Parts: sequence; C-alpha cells; structure tokens
Amino acid sequence: MPKQTLTRGDLVGLRAEGQFVLGSGFFNEVHVVEDEVVVKVAKPYGPLQQPLSWLRQNRKEHEASARHLRVPATYHVRMNRRDDRPVSVILQTRLRGRLLSQVPDNELYQPPLRAELVRTIRAIEHFGRHIGWLPDVIGGPPRWGMHDLRRSNNLFVTDEGQIWLIDPGALFLWFSRRNPIGMIYTSVLLWSGRRMLRRKPVR
Ligand SMILES: Nc1ncnc2c1ncn2[C@@H]1O[C@H](COP(=O)(O)OP(=O)(O)O)[C@@H](O)[C@H]1O
Ligand SMILES: [Mg+2]
Repeated sequence: MPKQTLTRGDLVGLRAEGQFVLGSGFFNEVHVVEDEVVVKVAKPYGPLQQPLSWLRQNRKEHEASARHLRVPATYHVRMNRRDDRPVSVILQTRLRGRLLSQVPDNELYQPPLRAELVRTIRAIEHFGRHIGWLPDVIGGPPRWGMHDLRRSNNLFVTDEGQIWLIDPGALFLWFSRRNPIGMIYTSVLLWSGRRMLRRKPVR
C-alpha cells in the first residue's frame, strides 16, 4: 500500500509551507504546519479507511472528552485531494512537551505536576463511571502496557505541567462499558489510575 503523505496543494486553503512530519503514531501521520498546528491524516489500513462517519464519530468523542479533560482545540475537516478522493483531516493546536509514558517518576510525582495528574485521573474516573465509555486515554501502538495509564501515549504532559488528551477517538469495543470486553478493559484502566493516585509525592 503506498504511504499516504500530505503535499502542498492537498490541503485546500491551508498554507502548508514549512510543514514537516512530527511523528507517526499508529493510526495517524502527524505533520506540523507553521510551527503551531498539527495536521493528522489517518493512515490507510484498509479500503474503508476514511468514511465520513468516522470523522463525525471522532468529533463527538472530542467534544465529550473536552467537557471533562483538557483537549487541544481541534477542527475536523473533510476535503478533497488533488485526485478528488475525499480525505478526513484533523487540525489541532500543537502542544510542547512529552507523552506521559516518557515522563520519569521523579518528575511526574512532584507536587505541582502530581496535583495535575490527580485531577486528570479523577476526571477520567468520573468520565468512565458517568458517561459509560472512556476516550482513548492510552493510545497505540498495540503493546505490552496498554492496561496501564502510566504508559499512556495519548496523555501529553506540556512543558508548563498541564496534562492534555491529544487523541480521544476510542475503539468502542474496548472503551465502552456496554459490552464485556469494554467493561473489563475500562475497569483495568481505571484501576491502574487509582494505583497511580496511591503513589507518594516525590519531594
Ligand atoms: N497536539 C499535538 N501536539 C504535539 N504533538 C502531537 C499532538 N498530537 C499528536 N502529537 C504527536 O504525534 C503522535 C501521534 O499522534 P496521535 O494523535 O496520538 O496519533 P495516533 O492515533 O497515530 O497515535 C503523538 O504521540 C505525539 O508525539
Ligand atoms: Mg495516539
């Protein structure tokens, strides 16, 4: 399958000079435009990779998540490539910092950041209990550690010490409490969060 990359001109009306690839997650190829905006294009894993329904669902998940957690300002955009094939694109404010999984314990459990961590985990707990599903608070790629919030690649710790959820879109089988798999998985995730809350602050 050819690698999908954005070129100037693919993005109608968006100035893409100076764009570079920031990183490549499991589902998205993430580009930076003008140093401030990230552009996420879903990678092609199959013929049905970008139906409009996916974009609508993803927007709902962003909106629901933003009511409880910090989620960067995000625009869901449907546009055409030069060859007229439709493409779904997510534009998002670029944050500066590291993935939660990359922050060492001695920083994460220090007081100001620890307080932010506690707030975030409580908000996730509240979300899971009252809304009935969780946004993807873990993130890919599929790996050992996906049961453990501490290893999250979707929670992002900024240089100012705020924790943001950068990629809420959830696979409903896993993150919904309406089926047995989802119920078990969300419980394990919430349990791993509570375990983090019990860790003593580092002083
Ligand atoms: N808003 C953002 N600000 C800064 N970096 C980001 C942002 N969104 C994504 N990234 C970077 O791109 C990577 C992949 O993004 P993500 O949206 O999680 O896609 P995937 O679904 O492929 O994991 C992240 O791990 C992170 O390093
Ligand atoms: Mg991710």
